[in-house]
Amino acid sequence: LFAVESKKTCPFSTKSHVLINFDDPAFHENPELIFQKLRNTAPIQKIILDDGFPVWLISKFNDAIEVLRDHRFIKSPNSLRTSDTDPLKGKTNRASPAYILRRFHMLANDPPNHTRLRIFAQKAFTPKLITAMRPRIQQITNELIDKIQTDKKCDFIDDFAYQLPIIVIAELLGLPVEDREKLRNWSDVLIEVQVTEKNKQSIEESADAFINYLSNVFALRRKNPGNDLISAFLRLELAEDHLTENELYATIFLLIIAGHETTVNLISNGMHSLLSHPKQLNLLKNNPDLIHSAVEEMLRYNGPVINSTMRLAAEDILINGIKIKKGEGVLVIFLSANQDEAKFDDSLRFDITRQNNKHLAFGYGIHFCIGAPLARLECEIAIKTILERLPNIKFNPDADSLEWRASNIIRGLKKFPVVF
Ligand code: HEM
Repeated sequence: LFAVESKKTCPFSTKSHVLINFDDPAFHENPELIFQKLRNTAPIQKIILDDGFPVWLISKFNDAIEVLRDHRFIKSPNSLRTSDTDPLKGKTNRASPAYILRRFHMLANDPPNHTRLRIFAQKAFTPKLITAMRPRIQQITNELIDKIQTDKKCDFIDDFAYQLPIIVIAELLGLPVEDREKLRNWSDVLIEVQVTEKNKQSIEESADAFINYLSNVFALRRKNPGNDLISAFLRLELAEDHLTENELYATIFLLIIAGHETTVNLISNGMHSLLSHPKQLNLLKNNPDLIHSAVEEMLRYNGPVINSTMRLAAEDILINGIKIKKGEGVLVIFLSANQDEAKFDDSLRFDITRQNNKHLAFGYGIHFCIGAPLARLECEIAIKTILERLPNIKFNPDADSLEWRASNIIRGLKKFPVVF
């Protein structure tokens, strides 16, 4: 899913396409100009991955919507691509631990399985549960600010933005907060995009450790249920259309990884956008009620997810006159679609008062992010509280220039030194 970057695992090679090179740090300095060129010259562009697999990049808003709502673009590769070659599947009928975590959750499935998995998760992951988290998220935010306040400077990502979402999701699931480094290490290994003979063993070991860890948590919660999400899942499991144990592991894994790096980078990219636009920053400081539209604009203008996860064409499909052949892959570039001038007025301008801001930062269609209300709430509380308590926050003038991660999935800074 939302993968960590690395040269080896980045699926887009330089040789295969004209405009975009996700491996190149220079691309990440100024992606908006390259996306603009892409939208104007090759809005539906085919690239060939290192392993020879053809993938279409969709960069315009309307084409993105067309792809994301078309049920003929599917997630499950079973009938199309990797079923026999997926090294995680193994040669026996028994799925390997990593295969379970990667393939048994909603984002890797199509209806009717997707529907069943998603409805199940939504029954426990309710808006009520999220709203009830508000005071606790506020408290965690305050505690994190208490820790950094006296130094008058910090790394905004490491010392603040990185901490909040992992504490929140660990508490929501009812996992001990002290386990967050363990969770982070397992997730880092498990979200590598490509499995090779070299990394296969460490991926399997991490998956195995994660599943063992969860199965112990399940045993404890079955005996002693609490108010947490895992207890709620286990209660539902008893009640009705239950998930298999493997589907439960994968669902919890998805909630941890899908909600973490994304929210970290929403908060930090959002703060970066504000500090880069002092008039907008002042406008928000003087009108804190603008926080809702400000968060939407942060999501649109420089959201944390660059590309969608891969879909595959289940048959030949025409998109805006271009034929995508059965079996070929499609990736929607959310960042580009959100900057499409045909959809958003003055689309490259950061405007925290923007109205009708129907961006695609959380995706669209049946896989629309189920964590969107939580991510919005965390970002809203984080940014608002930082501006209230550290109103003089600014870029650290003594720091080296900022560098963006050379990732094809997550848009985010490597470091973000600030003073206040
Ligand atoms: C799906 C973005 C936070 C859970 C997605 C998708 C996007 C996205 C773009 C769709 C991917 C695709 O269609 O290929 C974001 C962003 C976040 C965020 C930008 C933060 C700023 C969260 C959180 C959670 C979460 C906090 C849960 C704790 C999920 C799940 C899916 C998903 C479970 C799969 C939904 C499905 O397949 O039906 N997210 N996400 N996300 N997200 Fe998020």
